[in-house]
Amino acid sequence: MSEELYRPGLEGIIAGETEVSTVEQDSLAYRGYRIEGLAEHASFEEVAYLLLEGELPTAPQLADFRKRLDQHRAIQPEIVETVRMIPKSVGGMDVLRTGVSMAGHFDVAKGDERPALVERAIHALAVVPSIIAARLRLLDGKEPIDPKPGLSHAAQFLYMAFGKAPSELEEKLLNLTLVLYAEHEFNASAFAARVCASTLSDLYSAMVTGIATLKGPLHGGANEEAMKLISRFKSGDEAKAWTEEGIKNKAKIMGFGHRVYKNGDHRARILEPLMADLARERNQQAKLDVYFAIKNTVFDRKQIHMNVDYPCGLTYYLMGLPIDIYTPLFVASRVSGWAAHYIEQYTNNRIIRPRSRYVGPALRDYISVSERG
Ligand code: CMC
Repeated sequence: MSEELYRPGLEGIIAGETEVSTVEQDSLAYRGYRIEGLAEHASFEEVAYLLLEGELPTAPQLADFRKRLDQHRAIQPEIVETVRMIPKSVGGMDVLRTGVSMAGHFDVAKGDERPALVERAIHALAVVPSIIAARLRLLDGKEPIDPKPGLSHAAQFLYMAFGKAPSELEEKLLNLTLVLYAEHEFNASAFAARVCASTLSDLYSAMVTGIATLKGPLHGGANEEAMKLISRFKSGDEAKAWTEEGIKNKAKIMGFGHRVYKNGDHRARILEPLMADLARERNQQAKLDVYFAIKNTVFDRKQIHMNVDYPCGLTYYLMGLPIDIYTPLFVASRVSGWAAHYIEQYTNNRIIRPRSRYVGPALRDYISVSERG
């Protein structure tokens, strides 16, 4: 190699070009639209359309997109049976990985032109909430519920999971987290999905790659870990003492830090006030005290900001959702970003194949087994 460029974790390396989103210290934008505006006004369906098609939909385009999502929501009985057979102890992300892989066996489009890729993306988006809801109900000894056409993406999940229409507030909050989680440039799971796409593998395989990568606690798995941490403490003082000790011992505090953002995560700033309102409305001041005690201590001692997973964990908890589905709900949203990246890579492709720097033993000759000491 003539010029060798190496940074651990690929920090700061430009690994490709994208039109899907930009992540900067002072802004996050999906296809040029600032996250603040999308979070305030847009439905998740509008955002998913924007990511997949490049523009916000007109009213007829949005109605058609919603209809196509509804057409794909019902999952095949084979998928339900597969999910039923998975041991109860298996985590939600592992179940979802299997469920989406299985859904790929019921491909909804022919060929590899852009419209077929978009149709598969809509299918993947539609089935994820259905699989999460089916698993929740099966774990609870109940049968899955058929989707109800016409509900929003957020309301549809809550309906299928709990069998009743959600309150306006619950639908609004879930919609907001879906909008915030939808896309984030070359994060680990999107990059992994693009590597998969660059081999010209199929869209479902790339979604499974994304799920497998998002699962880890350094990535999407952090929203579950952050909530588990908050749940450990009864008071802010207890949480503060633990956090101080943890930082002294170089513990990683989940829901804090980010590879790109060094002055704070735009998404966390948007979500936090609504989460705090919800906590007060639900008389959960003690949880809020713990939340702020950890957050303030991490910042005072390490100057590290929270990322979106920190307020999101507590938001889902306050909505009464079980912890095991927090990262799967991240998937329910991020499928839109992964699919946009998949299509961008697949339709303008060069295989992603970097080099490594070899640091192993120098060249040596083979020694037969009998001669090895
Ligand atoms: N708790 C304690 N210390 C931390 C944390 C943390 N959460 N994050 C970073 N640091 C420290 C790190 O140990 C290092 O300290 P030192 O210089 O003393 O060794 C310093 O801050 C610089 O961090 P880094 O390790 O260079 O950061 P990175 O870019 O390699 O890793 C990260 C980024 C997000 C993986 C990391 O901050 C982390 O592990 N955070 C906890 C997991 C988490 O919340 N992940 C969610 C990421 S954002 C949304 C998503 O993808 O879901």
